[in-house]
Amino acid sequence: MKHSLFTSRLRMTVFSQSHLSELVRLNADPEVMRYFPATLSFEESATLLQRIIEHQRINEYSLFAIHLKESGAFVGWCGLMKVPFSAHFTPAVEIGWRLNKIFWAKGLAPEAAKSVLRFGFLDLGLSEIVSFTAELNQPSIQVMQKIWMKCNSEDTFNHPKLPSKHPLQRQTLYRLQKTDWLEHHENSEIP
Ligand SMILES: CC(C)(COP(=O)(O)OP(=O)(O)OC[C@H]1O[C@@H](n2cnc3c(N)ncnc32)[C@H](O)[C@@H]1OP(=O)(O)O)[C@@H](O)C(=O)NCCC(=O)NCCS
Repeated sequence: MKHSLFTSRLRMTVFSQSHLSELVRLNADPEVMRYFPATLSFEESATLLQRIIEHQRINEYSLFAIHLKESGAFVGWCGLMKVPFSAHFTPAVEIGWRLNKIFWAKGLAPEAAKSVLRFGFLDLGLSEIVSFTAELNQPSIQVMQKIWMKCNSEDTFNHPKLPSKHPLQRQTLYRLQKTDWLEHHENSEIP
């Protein structure tokens, strides 16, 4: 199975322990974590890294660490994970992303995500990939729309790990079927 993906600007590799300090800095930034319940402590990021590495070992896919090809700078992550809770749309595989804020608004998340979709549909043979975020997280929703995902208002759900009435509890779900992706993919250039 593939351990790295390349786009025109990005190099994406599987995570290892060597990424811990970069991940800790990313998860400790309050702006990056604005649409999450809280920033992550060093220990929480270390636990997340273990989960990412374990997911890769068991499933042969997980989140990819993203670096700029040109400078080698750590941009963030994008990748696929099994949804770790039960909801009306599970079992499902989710695509997600988190970028350092100096790299926002440059189209890097859609660029990485298109490459991850290709990996998910063609290499892993998935038939559907989902993504979800707090209804308030417009930048992330824009990314979902840019990679041809579609939202049905009936899919909106309350995140089971957030308390009732929490401002981030209402989550918008986007889906993409392999058949729809193939249609778009044939009509566009993969970065
Ligand atoms: C969501 C995220 C990955 C988007 O990545 P990106 O590479 O900036 O994506 P794009 O460049 O395509 O920008 C997406 C949209 O957000 C807008 N945007 C980006 N940064 C912004 C900012 N600081 N303030 C307001 N809007 C912003 C862009 O203008 C763009 O809108 P447009 O499509 O109308 O031009 C990035 O904002 C991020 O990492 N956020 C924090 C983590 C997060 O919320 N992850 C998603 C959890 S589900």
